[in-house]
Amino acid sequence: MLDLGRGRSYLTVMTILTILTAPDPRLKLKAAPVDGVDDDLRRFMDDMVETMYAAKGIGLAATQVGVARRVVVMDLADKGETPAPQYFVNPEITWSSPEMEVFNEGCLSVPDQYDDVERPARIRARYLNYHGAEQTIEADELLADCLQHEIDHLNGVLFIDHLSRLRRSMILKKLEKARRLGQTG
Ligand code: NI
Repeated sequence: MLDLGRGRSYLTVMTILTILTAPDPRLKLKAAPVDGVDDDLRRFMDDMVETMYAAKGIGLAATQVGVARRVVVMDLADKGETPAPQYFVNPEITWSSPEMEVFNEGCLSVPDQYDDVERPARIRARYLNYHGAEQTIEADELLADCLQHEIDHLNGVLFIDHLSRLRRSMILKKLEKARRLGQTG
């Protein structure tokens, strides 16, 4: 049976979603909170995880697959380790350290482009997990960076928005050129 509205079957087959790339205007939308975690949302989050794995990413926000809802998935397990997907519904940063740290970032919506972004080194956040239970987390290093990057997506912000205007326009030109050559999305 098909759920035509969302284009997905009710079989347990996962769907690889299409990842939007800059400068798609949908990446600039501010996502709305989710009412609660139900089976439909879990199925969507499963699809997000499959999509992230297929694209060899470590984090993905719903905004990036054209769904303006506050949902993030992540898996920071090293290659060769058991997959460890993490789910963050309605994530909210409740505290940021005054100390900053520079991370070299990339993004599935800005393919093959990387640059340094300075962000708070440690954060605290609250969110709902896969089962809808309220959680708080204290994060540093890659987890802190990735969470901030993904929550930015939910607010319509890309990592290139933290760069100089010159650097950002250079990256967007490279994406445009790659797209014309048929190398990306
Ligand atoms: Ni990203």
